[in-house]
Amino acid sequence: MSSRKIAKSNLCSLWMKTLGHLVVLSSLNPWVSAYSERERVHDLMSRYPLIDGHNDLALQLRILHNNRLSQVDLHNVSKVATDITRLQAGHVQAQVFAVYVLCGAQEKDAVRLTLEQIDVVRRMCTEYQDFELVTSAQELKNSAMRHKIACLISIEGGHSIDSSLPALRMFYQLGVRSMALTHTCNTPWAESSSKLYKVYQRHNNSLTHFGEAVVEEMNRLGMIVDLSHTSWDTARAVLGHSKAPVIFSHSSSFSICNHSRNVPDWLLKELRKKQGLIMVNLHSKFISCKDDANISRVADHFDHIRNVIGAQSIGIGGDFEGAVR
Ligand SMILES: *[C@@H]1O[C@H](CO)[C@@H](O)[C@H](O)[C@H]1NC(C)=O
Ligand SMILES: *[C@@H]1O[C@H](CO)[C@@H](O)[C@H](O)[C@H]1NC(C)=O
Ligand SMILES: *[C@@H]1O[C@H](CO)[C@@H](O)[C@H](O)[C@H]1NC(C)=O
Ligand SMILES: *[C@@H]1O[C@H](CO)[C@@H](O)[C@H](O)[C@H]1NC(C)=O
Ligand SMILES: [Zn+2]
Repeated sequence: MSSRKIAKSNLCSLWMKTLGHLVVLSSLNPWVSAYSERERVHDLMSRYPLIDGHNDLALQLRILHNNRLSQVDLHNVSKVATDITRLQAGHVQAQVFAVYVLCGAQEKDAVRLTLEQIDVVRRMCTEYQDFELVTSAQELKNSAMRHKIACLISIEGGHSIDSSLPALRMFYQLGVRSMALTHTCNTPWAESSSKLYKVYQRHNNSLTHFGEAVVEEMNRLGMIVDLSHTSWDTARAVLGHSKAPVIFSHSSSFSICNHSRNVPDWLLKELRKKQGLIMVNLHSKFISCKDDANISRVADHFDHIRNVIGAQSIGIGGDFEGAVR
């Protein structure tokens, strides 16, 4: 039990270390003029490779190919932004792959659909030599030395466990190491930031006793609690309850763009107290609150979050294949 806890906090602190270096170094002044921007980026990125907190490629594989990997060459996939060639070009050393199923599947076939998404990520990450499925901090470090892109599996939405701790434990056995407590729907035990679905609406009790049990069981197993998509009340309750650091795997700053998916400063400070991590989402809706955005606006999010809680608490959760712009 305790060694699992340690494994989990090691994983989180390794992400934080790597990402901290990345962010600090990328903000150094361009002091070498003989050196092109591109070379400088390559140099920094090879020394401090990226761990990306969120990618929805598995969802696109279902939508575009019904999860038939034989239809695609993952080195070069059309109609998506993510493939092995581009992950390597971007020096992505570890990619958290979301396994996501529609909220419409809640209390219907969510568990089966989640299993199918775990299956496609596991096949993708074991059939291609460039990938390696990792489930511990040590495996993550080893994969870096072996020049593999580490794959981590994260469930996106608590509806995937159908209010079953046994299902949660079995997902852990299949390699899942993180779970977002909600997607855009409330669950019977936690509240979403979105009001899109009318299910399980509440005025209080944003994390029920069962919700606390889910957090405790994730702590015990060594599964990182992800607060992206939960309501602020739920996030606050989880931060008060979790024994281990938690993350926002793909959320940005509410002070810079006041979208409900983003994180306000008071919540960033609570996150910092728990040694947590916020991985900035690059979706234009969360960056500029508009349909288009630019890199300088992205930098505003990093600068603001750094000013509030420090560079060691920031990461990148690109949200490729989920974010449409
Ligand atoms: C990917 O495939 C497309 C067409 O199938 C081709 O035009 C392109 O050059 C390929 N890209 C790489 C990096 O191989
Ligand atoms: C929600 O419930 C808790 C515990 O019963 C209570 O302390 C809190 O004041 C309530 N909040 C609201 C907004 O009703
Ligand atoms: C965000 O700010 C705009 C402009 O000040 C305001 O109209 C809108 O209601 C705010 N949205 C939220 C979610 O606070
Ligand atoms: C980037 O977008 C912001 C608005 O979101 C705008 O104020 C700024 O001028 C833009 N910067 C560039 C370099 O285009
Ligand atoms: Zn998401």
